[in-house]
Amino acid sequence: MQKDFEERYHLITAVKDFESLRVAFLGRKGHVPSLRAQIKTLPTAEERKQLGARATALQRRVEDGINALRLELEDRAIAKTLEQERADIDLPVLDQHELGALHPVSLIRNKLEQVFQRLSFSVLDGPDVEFEDYNFNKLNIPDHHPARDMQDTFYLQNYQRLLLRTHTSNVQVHAMEQHSPPLRVVSMGRCFRCDNDLTHTPQFHQIEGFVVDNGISFAHLKGMIDVFLRALYGKELATRFRPSYFPFVEPGAEVDIACVACGGNGCRVCKQTGWLEAGGCGMIHPNVFETLNIDSESYTGFAFGFGLDRLAMLYFGVDDLRVLFAGQDEFLSQFPTHLQ
Ligand code: DAH
Repeated sequence: MQKDFEERYHLITAVKDFESLRVAFLGRKGHVPSLRAQIKTLPTAEERKQLGARATALQRRVEDGINALRLELEDRAIAKTLEQERADIDLPVLDQHELGALHPVSLIRNKLEQVFQRLSFSVLDGPDVEFEDYNFNKLNIPDHHPARDMQDTFYLQNYQRLLLRTHTSNVQVHAMEQHSPPLRVVSMGRCFRCDNDLTHTPQFHQIEGFVVDNGISFAHLKGMIDVFLRALYGKELATRFRPSYFPFVEPGAEVDIACVACGGNGCRVCKQTGWLEAGGCGMIHPNVFETLNIDSESYTGFAFGFGLDRLAMLYFGVDDLRVLFAGQDEFLSQFPTHLQ
């Protein structure tokens, strides 16, 4: 009988056969109950005991067998499903073009972020929609000050005191309101002015940087500008400072850099002058410090603001500002995903 079980056990391959196996051995008329029925017909207690033990052993064997078989069949079913529904979840390796590209301004922005982080600057963000106070008043540009005319401003309709920031210098105000010196901050982002010609777009990008500490001088400012331009362009570039007026710095200057294209000899990019205008800078005005409750006797600081678009154009040799904002795939897809 045990042999009969083993044979049937090995014949079984499908789940539906459990039941016939169970019925054949454990069912009301199955082998195990019929063995048990025979027990009482045996003459000696010893024989009855032996047959009882065999019946119990057979029952266990069948039960264990059915369980093992069930597990095995389940495993086989899972393996079969996995085999049939095999899915390749690996994405194919993309070539550079399919990976996409970053916008040239984003590439320069990412690179400068790295450069300034290495110089222990904090990288802060500022709001694109700003209060007039933060864009102008607290930067020593009071209402009706003529300097406002230099920055044709988009005001928000129905919100007289709200505007689209005209420069990233607003971050100076936020940073100095929220943190006390010493400060080393850069911030990069969108700016807006009501301007549209060959060299101006209504939306553009700037990088603002400033340091506030004891004993900061114009020499630190010049050194810092040299360091970051060298890190960005990978070569030593001469700089030139021309006195200029920005209400939030005193003294203030415009910074020219030796032409990235010709190294200063004169070419088409620099209109034969050898120099390129890059941005403004200066020593933070004591009025700005006083407005922001920073003691201008103890602290001094420098600030600079450069056009990111300009830095990107020089880096990549792009000669028309407007292509940066035209959203043309042909132009944009030439760029990599990061700079070394
Ligand atoms: N915010 C100025 C502009 O957009 C640029 C600038 C000039 C920033 C001098 C500065 C600075 O931090 O010191 O015209």
